[in-house]
Amino acid sequence: MSDRYAVIGNPIGHSKSPQIHAAFARQTGQNLVYDRVLAPLDAFEATVRAFFHDGGHGLNVTVPFKREAWDIVDRCEGSALAAEAVNTIKRVGTELIGYNTDGVGLLTDLEHNLGTAIAGRRVLLMGAGGASYGVLQPLLERRPDLLVVANRTLDRAERLVQHFHKFHALVPQGISAKPYVALDGLQFDLVVNATSAGLEGEMPKLPDGLFAPHSVAYDMVYGRQTQFLAFAHARGATCADGLGMLVEQAAESFLIWRGVRPQTAPVMAQLRSEH
Ligand code: ATR
Repeated sequence: MSDRYAVIGNPIGHSKSPQIHAAFARQTGQNLVYDRVLAPLDAFEATVRAFFHDGGHGLNVTVPFKREAWDIVDRCEGSALAAEAVNTIKRVGTELIGYNTDGVGLLTDLEHNLGTAIAGRRVLLMGAGGASYGVLQPLLERRPDLLVVANRTLDRAERLVQHFHKFHALVPQGISAKPYVALDGLQFDLVVNATSAGLEGEMPKLPDGLFAPHSVAYDMVYGRQTQFLAFAHARGATCADGLGMLVEQAAESFLIWRGVRPQTAPVMAQLRSEH
């Protein structure tokens, strides 16, 4: 019988993870099945327990359960510890181990696929929700010169910055929280949009001079031209959506579960060709 994996979330119907992991399994010759599981909003834990009780081997966790997943695993590894959010669960015997591969996914896409260095650069992270918690530690560990977290609700940005205080010393010019209006007059080498605004066809109001011609604009939303990317493109920035991050975080999960890291480029090309 094949080993069983799934992505769990609510909603889950549009998740591309089953397609990505099926492609990885074919490519690496691994015998597994990977499904979608819709968890009721008030029954995430019961749904997870039932999945593993029935012999499931691993889960990817998506919106809105990454935080709750951190609560219910037996222990965490790597960046899930500081993020207090889990997007990958591996069962070893009866123990559930939590990981967070979102940060590695983002960094691999930025550095390896897009050739964007972060060390010594000025970085703006937009948003202070779960997506930002997942990627902040790996971003700080790359030692940017300066990191600003901007958010519509300022105190959420302040809490996020404070939460990662152990990593502040890695950033020579410091890490700070600001509302969007306070970005006037600042310019960044890399701007990462971790807000969900693009899903609603919106974007936070940004100043005109935010991007230099060499700047990179990255939107974690994928599969559509967001207002943020249109704004950045019109100001000469190099733009990328979050499809690469999606595939890279999946590859990292696959490595955790199966001990082999699949090649991501062919899977990305396949997904892009289907748009
Ligand atoms: P996620 O887990 O995807 O990060 P979340 O925790 O709901 O989801 O956080 C969504 C983020 O997008 C928040 O930073 C939110 O800003 P607030 O903290 O002020 O709510 C941001 N966001 C969502 N819609 C937005 C919009 N239209 N304009 C600006 N920011 C928006």
